[in-house]
Amino acid sequence: MSRKLQVYEADGLTVTFDAQRCIHHGHCVRTLPSVFNTAARPWVQPGRATADEVMAVVAGCPTGALQAARSDGGSATALVPDVPVQLRIGRHGPIFVRGAVEVSVDDGSPLAADSRVALCRCGLSARKPFCDNSHRSAGWRDAAASPAPDTAG
Ligand code: SF4
Ligand code: FES
Repeated sequence: MSRKLQVYEADGLTVTFDAQRCIHHGHCVRTLPSVFNTAARPWVQPGRATADEVMAVVAGCPTGALQAARSDGGSATALVPDVPVQLRIGRHGPIFVRGAVEVSVDDGSPLAADSRVALCRCGLSARKPFCDNSHRSAGWRDAAASPAPDTAG
């Protein structure tokens, strides 16, 4: 699956962003607005915080839209936590997977090897198996879920 990545660099750290995998969860802009700010240009400025701070936020991006690589010798282990793979069913949204996962198609061809992915469960994504936020624009609702407000994915 070809992807266009936006690349943002700072000393010892490169952050990439795959807009097609971002579902506007907001974790990044809420947690570290000095670096992730949609009102600024560029909207990612990794040099405005420490590499550890940026890596921690990237690791928390639930879709894998944000990735980072560091060349300063610091630890990148936060990106692939040493924990069992975890699945969380987003309310009225995707299945969030965390852990070291590999996604492949039926013939074994790899689609992604990542520590965070959001998988479509509404059936509306144009980028299946990944969620592309179509559930939200379509107003999709999981009939089995409680009526509490949607928690952004
Ligand atoms: S999906 Fe990732 S990149 Fe998109 S808003 Fe959420 S944390 Fe930020
Ligand atoms: S769950 Fe997000 S597009 Fe299907």
